[in-house]
Amino acid sequence: MTKSQIKLYYKNVMADVIGDEHGITHNQWVDLEKKVEPLIPLMMKEVVGHQRHPNITPTRYGLLPANEQIVRDVKKHVEELRKGCHNLVVLGIGGSALGNIALQTALNPYMYNLDDKQRHGPRLFVFDNVDPAQFDSFLRWVVESNQLDKTIFNVISKSGQTAETASQLLIVRQMLLDKIGPEGFRRQVIATTDAKKGTLRTLADQAKLRTLEVPDDVGGRFSVLSAVGLFSAAMCGIDIDALLAGARDVHKRVSNETFKDNPAAINAAIHYHFYHRGKKNSVIMPYAYALKDMADWYRQLWAESLGKSTDLEGNQVFIGPTPIKALGATDQHSQVQLYREGPNDKLFTFLQVEILDGESELVIGPAPDGAPELDYLAGKKMSTLLNSEKQATEFALLHDKRPCLTVLFDCVTPYTVGQFIFLFEVTTSFVGALFNINPYDQPAVELGKEATFALMGKEGYEDFAQEIQLKTEIDEDYLV
Ligand code: PA5
Repeated sequence: MTKSQIKLYYKNVMADVIGDEHGITHNQWVDLEKKVEPLIPLMMKEVVGHQRHPNITPTRYGLLPANEQIVRDVKKHVEELRKGCHNLVVLGIGGSALGNIALQTALNPYMYNLDDKQRHGPRLFVFDNVDPAQFDSFLRWVVESNQLDKTIFNVISKSGQTAETASQLLIVRQMLLDKIGPEGFRRQVIATTDAKKGTLRTLADQAKLRTLEVPDDVGGRFSVLSAVGLFSAAMCGIDIDALLAGARDVHKRVSNETFKDNPAAINAAIHYHFYHRGKKNSVIMPYAYALKDMADWYRQLWAESLGKSTDLEGNQVFIGPTPIKALGATDQHSQVQLYREGPNDKLFTFLQVEILDGESELVIGPAPDGAPELDYLAGKKMSTLLNSEKQATEFALLHDKRPCLTVLFDCVTPYTVGQFIFLFEVTTSFVGALFNINPYDQPAVELGKEATFALMGKEGYEDFAQEIQLKTEIDEDYLV
């Protein structure tokens, strides 16, 4: 296992680089240190279950990296199910899917699903939507190619009430019952849900399904290092021990009570500072395709945790940085015009990987005689080009006084990805504390969930359904 550590590089947010108006001055840095350093021990207790304030939902996600029982449970099921499994299908949404997708994109080859030689486990399909065309296309393929008994469905829902996941499960259940009977349903489905309560727990127990647990006091978006994310990762050959070792490594680093040595404290302090100085957007821009979906995972973590209307004392604050995902170099040709010449209201976080190559180094071929202007590329490694583009974009942004952070990876491995995940989870907790809000709930998601129940005819929601229709039905006067 490589012992390389990811690092946070923060020089390019400083006033020395981008000037006093947009950068952090020496005095501001000293103030941030005074504000954030005392929070470190409190936060490290908070993430392992200590409730710092009565209005904070208790959390224990900080215990996950060292939880050996979860790893044992996951490996037991993987051992039983992996042989003979050609397709693994994850049914889940939000925190019950984004981590799975992010791990797969980061740690398995781009052609994993298509090329048997590059694949060392089942193909992985994650359905985090209720798009009938998409789901139907997949189900038809599975049935028509006689893959049903080679396909494991991992339904993930802490509550079991989530309409999207529940509907997928009910479709799959009926299909399996029709095609291979109750025993087939039992054999092909594994449920990841609450240990004791909830709709999915009841359903799984009744059907005698295999189950894995979503631990208590771990919200969906903080659950990727539990069975939620580990099962599909391990099924697809990802080294989950190394992933968790990476998270444990960062746990030590973010427990360091000295501000200047603590990457989560510094990352959070910088985000807090800029949010209150007109930079309310946080762009995350990996320069590695492998990390593309980590940006998606981060976007949910940041948005659901930090977008809150009230603070811990119940005052209205309507706070929360808007997370924006971009991909280098792709989005240089889509977003960078705005990022440089549009409003200076963003903090940029690049993810840079030193060793980007896969199995072999890709070298750019010679330019033909008719195109001498391409000679400068010839013989250069493609990874050199991608990293030069990162450097070039950062330079261009700094020229326009835009603050830039970089998370530096030596390479993308389970060990470094585990570090990244835990670093950003703890950073989120720190920013939540600095904003004086509860980062572990998501009350604003509930209204939409309940409105869906009402519109889909759930008992007890009849009046609510009428109210929704009145407010949202199409008014022809406004249709052009
Ligand atoms: O982060 C969260 O808590 C949410 O995104 C949930 O993961 C999401 O709503 C799915 O919930 P459940 O796992 O209960 O189906």
